[in-house]
Amino acid sequence: MGGIHVMDHPLLRHKIDYIRRKEVGTKEFREIIEEISMLMCYEATRELKLEDVEIETPICTMQGKELAGRKLAVVPILRAGLGMVEGILHMIPAAKIGHIGLYRDPETLEPVEYYCKLPADCDKREVFVVDPMLATGGSSAAAITMLKEKGVKNIRFLCVIAAPEGVEKMKKEHPDVDIYIGVLDEKLNEHGYIVPGLGDAGDRIFGTK
Ligand code: PRP
Ligand code: URA
Repeated sequence: MGGIHVMDHPLLRHKIDYIRRKEVGTKEFREIIEEISMLMCYEATRELKLEDVEIETPICTMQGKELAGRKLAVVPILRAGLGMVEGILHMIPAAKIGHIGLYRDPETLEPVEYYCKLPADCDKREVFVVDPMLATGGSSAAAITMLKEKGVKNIRFLCVIAAPEGVEKMKKEHPDVDIYIGVLDEKLNEHGYIVPGLGDAGDRIFGTK
């Protein structure tokens, strides 16, 4: 059964509120999103299973721990999700990477799929879907449906900022998925943007408009 985890951590909160500022430029925004992703990954991997292993230190033999065999994959939702991949790879460098391309139609706010390439054995992996913004929830809910259609069973979703509307949609459509949220914001505006939010995450990461 999934759950909603709002990460109440001062370092994370400081960094997220810093990049909300409109004067923060592309280079700094990108670097700090990477740091935020690293911190979020640390929290989101808290439940990973460990197994016993015998190891020899220079002093003696001991019963140690290592991560149990389950393989991991990271799946960014293009484009903005790409900004979170490097930070996560710093923590779990052996993870495979899949890509799901979705954009939000500016009129209907509905997600439009344009790309999907996943590791061949993704159904056997624990998958971390990443996207900085959970607004209406249309994009993340559609991405997770696509993964489930490919047989993926263990899914976690990481987003930097979420709106209550998106959280509700995810809870309704994917109650089995654990959702890790950096900060839960107030609401959506009439254009489907998160308030106070940080604007368009993709544009801020890639310097487009
Ligand atoms: C943004 C964001 C999410 C989506 C969130 O992507 O990165 O994918 O919107 O909104 P939703 O919860 O209402 O679906 P966008 O469609 O702007 O595409 P981009 O990443 O290519 O900029
Ligand atoms: N997508 C974004 O990038 N920002 C929002 O506030 C909502 C959707």
